[in-house]
Amino acid sequence: MFDEAITAQRCQWAPWQSKLCSAEQAAALIKDGMTVGMSGFTRAGEAKAVPMALAEMAKENPLSITLMTGASLGNDLDRLLTEANVLARRMPFQVDSTLRKAINDGKVMFIDQHLSETVEQLRNHQLPKINVAVIEACAITKDGGIVPTTSLGNSASFAMDADQVIIELNLAAPLALQGLHDVYFPEMRPERTPVPVVAPNSRIGGTEIPIDPSKIAAIVVSNIPDSPSTVLPPDEGTQSIADHLIKFFTYEVESGHLTPSLLPLQAGIGTMANAVMSGFAHGPFKNLTMYSEVLQDCTFDLLDAGVMDFASGCSITLSEERGKSVWNNLDKYRDRLILRPQEISNLPEIVRRLGIIAVNTALEADIYGNVNSTHVCGTRMMNGVGGSGDFARNAHMSIFVTKSVAKNGDISSFVPFVSHVDHNEHDVDILVSEHGLADLRGLAPRERAQVVIDNCVDPSYRPALQAYFDEACERGGHTPHCLEKALSWHHAVDTEGSMRRFIKEQELAEA
Ligand code: COA
Repeated sequence: MFDEAITAQRCQWAPWQSKLCSAEQAAALIKDGMTVGMSGFTRAGEAKAVPMALAEMAKENPLSITLMTGASLGNDLDRLLTEANVLARRMPFQVDSTLRKAINDGKVMFIDQHLSETVEQLRNHQLPKINVAVIEACAITKDGGIVPTTSLGNSASFAMDADQVIIELNLAAPLALQGLHDVYFPEMRPERTPVPVVAPNSRIGGTEIPIDPSKIAAIVVSNIPDSPSTVLPPDEGTQSIADHLIKFFTYEVESGHLTPSLLPLQAGIGTMANAVMSGFAHGPFKNLTMYSEVLQDCTFDLLDAGVMDFASGCSITLSEERGKSVWNNLDKYRDRLILRPQEISNLPEIVRRLGIIAVNTALEADIYGNVNSTHVCGTRMMNGVGGSGDFARNAHMSIFVTKSVAKNGDISSFVPFVSHVDHNEHDVDILVSEHGLADLRGLAPRERAQVVIDNCVDPSYRPALQAYFDEACERGGHTPHCLEKALSWHHAVDTEGSMRRFIKEQELAEA
């Protein structure tokens, strides 16, 4: 079915033909109750043909597994696997609406985990061993080493830990990806030495996953592209948030707190991050670097503009248009890119050493600076904490952005008390909404609250939140609260679908 010459060019491992099989035959190696580790991070580099075949197979012969990946999958795989009831447990991140519903209905047990931690826990037997790893490759080396594709994620450790490895050789992935990866495994504790990344461009490992070839159970040839990213152009609110941040960084440079190259940047995936990063093309910034997870369109825009010198990540997720220009011209970027395992791209030790400027998105924040990134009204999972905690806790500067309201203004994203805490007040330096930026560094809780209310809260909710804070301060405390009212704003969403009642009550109180 596939051109044998092209396949052979990508398979330097001599016995490759003896392992060649269909996606269905490979999927049949996965049995009920197994723990399976698959490649894939933010719609990039996921194994595709085998999970698709697995979902089909499960319709006839039901089975359920624990599925670990790097992060979210493309090609609707989480939806297909959920609909086929394949997923008993899923970790460490997802973004699929069908899977989200199954998680919130209690049908899939979701383990929402800091993305740097999964393989560390695997290595130390804190998680079940991987029975089968399914890893997408753009080539297999003569020693049976796997050359990954557009993400490295958790693939290397999954393949090393697994009893059996299925390699999905994707002919749609450019062979030019070879050489971009930097595969490194931290030493075992307690003898571990420092992981020697001292700059975003530090190369510390090899370019392939060096597995024992006797573990290669199957090679499946596929030709399915990654799903393109779904980043939208910035809207008015998103653009305002980006503008506030760029103004802030311009001030930091002009006042000598940061140099024009700032410090290595990390930004979450999505429209917000894309808008913020694109803003760096204008202003006093030069020789920027990234030390992040996902490299998206804006990374390549900044590299092309000559504003960014180097970008280190663990996956590349691009729009269709940007994909064409990058994948056909990889050599142009080769010396300015590295793809690392996510335990290295997100390693707290390195984040602290390099002094990362971290920009992540909050669902909601409270007046004291605690951030909820994951749970709507404290109970319903959205996506997961992802890598935001790996960076936020250890960054030189930890920034969270959010629009001030959600659901057409029915919900204020700034509340008395967040309904779930992913990033506590000690890890949050700066909050930004479309209304302004709250610099919380060096402020005590009572000072933080006033700065958040004055700068970030939507004007319609500002009086109600001020009234809550004033009443709380009268009662006293280092971090004042009216405990019986602290979650009443979320309770109103649950029972009435809106927080608008608090606007009206405050208007009446002031009338
Ligand atoms: N209460 C309830 N719902 C809210 C809300 C709030 N305070 N704020 C936003 N929402 C809803 C939006 O209405 C939207 O709902 P919809 O999908 O039904 O339209 C949804 O949440 C997403 O919000 P949006 O404003 O489109 O932001 P986003 O797509 O940038 O996602 C997060 C925001 C927080 C969900 C997302 O950034 C995330 O999952 N973060 C955690 C992981 C992370 O930080 N990764 C990056 C580092 S690895």
